[in-house]
Amino acid sequence: MEIDTKVVHGGQHPDPSTGAVSQPIYQTSTFAFKDADHGARLFKKEEKGYIYTRLGNPNIDLLAQKLAVLEGAKAGLVFSSGSAAIFGIMFCIAGKGNNIVSDNIIYGGTYAQFMKVLPKTGITTTFVDATQVEELEQSIKPDTKLIFIETPANPTLKIIDIAKCAEIAHKHNIPLVVDNTFATPCLQRPIEHKADIVVHSMTKYLTGHGDSIGGVVVGKEEVIKELKVLNDLGACYNPFGAWLTLRGLKTLAVRVERHSKNAMELAKFLETHSKVEKVYYPGLASHPGYEIARRQMSDFGGMVSFEVRGGREAGKTLINSVKLCIVAVSLGDTDTLIEHPASMTHSSYSDEECLKVGIKPGLVRISVGIENIKDIIADLERGLDKI
Ligand SMILES: Cc1ncc(COP(=O)(O)O)c(C=O)c1O
Repeated sequence: MEIDTKVVHGGQHPDPSTGAVSQPIYQTSTFAFKDADHGARLFKKEEKGYIYTRLGNPNIDLLAQKLAVLEGAKAGLVFSSGSAAIFGIMFCIAGKGNNIVSDNIIYGGTYAQFMKVLPKTGITTTFVDATQVEELEQSIKPDTKLIFIETPANPTLKIIDIAKCAEIAHKHNIPLVVDNTFATPCLQRPIEHKADIVVHSMTKYLTGHGDSIGGVVVGKEEVIKELKVLNDLGACYNPFGAWLTLRGLKTLAVRVERHSKNAMELAKFLETHSKVEKVYYPGLASHPGYEIARRQMSDFGGMVSFEVRGGREAGKTLINSVKLCIVAVSLGDTDTLIEHPASMTHSSYSDEECLKVGIKPGLVRISVGIENIKDIIADLERGLDKI
């Protein structure tokens, strides 16, 4: 099946007990056993069945299975958020006293997790520019347990060559982990480029309507088995959230197509605007990662960032002047969202760190929605006129 058919049907069948085409919500915390021996057999894993929703639930399991199918992975596990999913990987795969190597441009919450939370578990992080293959390879130490990248990266849309990073990781017998939140499996499937583990914030395009927080990890069965110990940590998902994400996934391909089309038009408009210094969109030939993006993605996605002339103050004026675009963090919603990374999503980076990795004070990030592009452009044009 092609990916746009898979998002509708992949891993899913009508409910076997009722024939319901949309799986009913199993809104229950616990499941009745037939008798004492049945319960004991389920706990011993001698028989398959449901025990307790933190350990497994039909909606949550179907979602994990569907996302594994979409990414071309063997298995998946869903979490209460993308951040919990990322932490799960680091905690279970890297482990105490070890190191991870991460690209230096990642979501600010992930950066905060690597800088402040992982050290509490004894894990250290080495930040590198993963587009520089030599730098990446040299940063791997004997205690390095994995490489982590986002591509396209939040917020500068930096594009990293997945296959090259995988080659380096495998040379050192460690896995490559890719945060595929910006691209979605409709546009990029990192496992096809030899990545080992894929993580998503499901909060974004996968759920797609800005109404639920969740995360997922997909990969080989043994990796997911390793992560399942986290059921005892309690970072699990919930049946209604899983149902919302399953519903959102049905329209993922058509939404992403529209997001990408709108983003490309917006990027082209911004590139010619006199108040705009620089546009960051991997679909523009001016983007340094354009050729790699063309190779590893089927389209360029719905995220656009740009620097306005006049730095932070000019960016603030623009954000305060728009009417249709909603001033909010998060991304991948039907609605266009606009934000200022340096003071919002990436405020965990100090001003110096922002400058070092290229998150400029005047950088504005837009999650381009599925509205009519003429209205989005008109709104931004009005805002830019105010600068
Ligand atoms: C690329 C990326 N990864 C992970 C996350 C974290 O996801 P969540 O907010 O679901 O914890 C985000 C959130 O914005 C993100 O942009």
